[in-house]
Amino acid sequence: MKLKSWLVAGAMVVAAVAQAQEMSEEAIKDRIKPVGSVHVAGDEAQGEAAGGGGGGTRSGEVVYNNACVACHGAGVLGAPKMQVTADWQPRLDERGFDMLLENAINGYNAMPPKGTCGDCSDDEIKAAIEYMIEGI
Ligand code: HEC
Repeated sequence: MKLKSWLVAGAMVVAAVAQAQEMSEEAIKDRIKPVGSVHVAGDEAQGEAAGGGGGGTRSGEVVYNNACVACHGAGVLGAPKMQVTADWQPRLDERGFDMLLENAINGYNAMPPKGTCGDCSDDEIKAAIEYMIEGI
């Protein structure tokens, strides 16, 4: 009786270890993914982004939700806030869209290059800005 329950427990441990190994393989794959992509918890658009596999162009909304919302959602560090005219209009008037795009790609004061989205193409950054200023 006792021996049998030990065997059952032993088998469960073996199964758990096997599962843990599988999981760590997943974790390794996760770790060797291209760096720089920021994932925000609760982002419903992430599935779409993951499906891209680097080949397709992500929409401005997806890029924004992955990389920009952390600062541009609440105006962290003085970041111009999502679709707030008073935050964006003076910048557009002063520099024009192309210059804002260039600053977003290269970095500008506390604005990190590509907004920390290292694997974003210039077009994806452009789409994210367009999404942030849509309708202002
Ligand atoms: C770590 C916080 C942070 C993240 C993440 C971030 N930004 Fe910013 N961003 C800022 C701050 C702060 C400014 C204001 C910089 C200033 O005017 O001094 C800014 C300014 C900008 C500007 C205006 C530049 C100008 O010339 O006035 C654009 C465009 C921009 N961000 C785009 C983006 C995009 C697109 C993303 C996501 C791909 C992003 N940012 C992610 C902090 C951030």
